[in-house]
Amino acid sequence: MIVCVCNNVNVDKVKASIDAGSDTLEAIRETTGATACCGKCQFKVNRVLQQHAPQSIEQDSFLVAQTVNGSR
Ligand code: FES
Repeated sequence: MIVCVCNNVNVDKVKASIDAGSDTLEAIRETTGATACCGKCQFKVNRVLQQHAPQSIEQDSFLVAQTVNGSR
């Protein structure tokens, strides 16, 4: 499935970038080109990142959310 129409980037390419160590949208942009034009795909790419990221990244995101929300 294509996630970035502008740069013809599919889910598998984003997952491969994550597997290679990309842990931010910026890192995925640098390695795949996704989100580099109109940016409309950033939510889709971020969803793939959150769903495919190793457990530690998910925990980091959860801790950041808690910190931002003031619940920590
Ligand atoms: S759809 Fe990805 S940058 Fe436009």
